[in-house]
Amino acid sequence: MAQILDGKLVRDEILAELEPRIAALPRRPGLAVVLVGGDPASEVYVNSKIKTCASLGLVSEKILRPETTTTAELLAIIDELNGNEAIDGILVQMPVPPHIDSRQVLERIAPDKDIDGFHPVNVGRLSIGLPGPRPCTPAGVMELLRRTGIEVAGKRAVVVGRSDIVGKPMAMLLLHAHATVTICHSRTVDLAAECQRAEILVGAIGRPAFLTAEHIRPGAVVIDVGINRITERSEAAAILRNEANLLAEFDRKGKMLVGDTHPLDAMALAGAWTPVPGGVGPLTIAMLMSNTVEAAERRQGC
Ligand code: GUN
Repeated sequence: MAQILDGKLVRDEILAELEPRIAALPRRPGLAVVLVGGDPASEVYVNSKIKTCASLGLVSEKILRPETTTTAELLAIIDELNGNEAIDGILVQMPVPPHIDSRQVLERIAPDKDIDGFHPVNVGRLSIGLPGPRPCTPAGVMELLRRTGIEVAGKRAVVVGRSDIVGKPMAMLLLHAHATVTICHSRTVDLAAECQRAEILVGAIGRPAFLTAEHIRPGAVVIDVGINRITERSEAAAILRNEANLLAEFDRKGKMLVGDTHPLDAMALAGAWTPVPGGVGPLTIAMLMSNTVEAAERRQGC
């Protein structure tokens, strides 16, 4: 049975450590969150970010714009926020609608307010190991590993997924922590064989319960970054392998969240595992708060 890596405990620890730093600042840190369109999952994430700001005493500004917003309109919002002294961090929730040029948008955010670490300047800083904001989800994974005492140096780590938001920065952070890193993706030949070598396996592909027993090396640390919402009973039954007590829970709620790793296989085979929900998810917001406080400290000369 895998040890459960509890992201909520680590989140609470990170947030508690931020409190005295926030109190020491001359001005409260300010975070602006921009959401274009009405994607329900994005709305949930954005609201949760705003709520955490309030509980920590950060100033937050939620900017909602309709699906029809143009790239030029979004760039104008960012220009205003770049010049707003009360705002230390700017986050444009991804994904934006397909007609918006997301690259242009991310490049417009002033690098010192880019608390996502998505601006090319900050991607470059990560690549060569200079200080700067690190993308929140992979940074949260590193905090979880560090604070739960999991050794990374010298380990074989396999990251499944090569997104700019998670896969690539995750691989880079593991590399800086001296892991031997492999990045796998949709064109990888014999994914199972690659994953079987992993002492640390990171699933970041956005496909429900995709990594199963054949991918998990017995005793591996399995980090599940996926958050997939299942509402079809037949899909839930297939994933849960018709286990009656688990399906009963699905039936009660009419939905379930599942990661990119198969929960039953990960539980049975891994040495340690981040469950979904309650594993990596809570850490993303904790690291967003941490990046915002750090940006505020830098901008206020602290
Ligand atoms: N969408 C999913 N994860 C993230 C994130 O970390 N930052 C932003 N801006 N959008 C996201």
